[in-house]
Amino acid sequence: MKLSEKVRELLNQQINKELYSAYLYLDFSNYFEERNLNGFANWYYIQAQEERDHAMLFYRYLQNNDAKVTLEAIAKPDKVLDSDMAVLQAGLEHEEYVTSLIDAIYAEAYDARDFRTMQFLDWFVKEQGEEETNARDMIAKMELFGSNPKSLYDLNNELAARVYTAPSLVL
Ligand code: FEO
Repeated sequence: MKLSEKVRELLNQQINKELYSAYLYLDFSNYFEERNLNGFANWYYIQAQEERDHAMLFYRYLQNNDAKVTLEAIAKPDKVLDSDMAVLQAGLEHEEYVTSLIDAIYAEAYDARDFRTMQFLDWFVKEQGEEETNARDMIAKMELFGSNPKSLYDLNNELAARVYTAPSLVL
């Protein structure tokens, strides 16, 4: 089965969006490195790695389906990072945006009766739910603990414990 051109185009664009996500989270990590909050920096560094993995999954899916891949320039991270909370809010806003992108590809695949792509995207639909939840949890914890130095220190230590795991989806 050949992918429809519209579905191919959206999947191809998503490679770029996920690489941009990786770049954005690296920017977040860098922000927290400069604040000496190394646990937060670790958390977003790992998030950047996960986003790179997402990009590779879209890349590999297109390759496996004999569909053309075109790599475009990755935009400069454009979020204004002027406070810890602004970073966390930007993360949630970005994940909600990515969810809308995944949903748009899914809708296009649905219209094309492209069941293979829908099944591929199912993993991302679930992943986006988890990523939005993580972003909301980060905001909730910062609201509770961010203004108290000792609590912020503990939260930073908690986030330092995050370790990278490869995605459960293998193509
Ligand atoms: Fe790849 Fe955070 O979505």
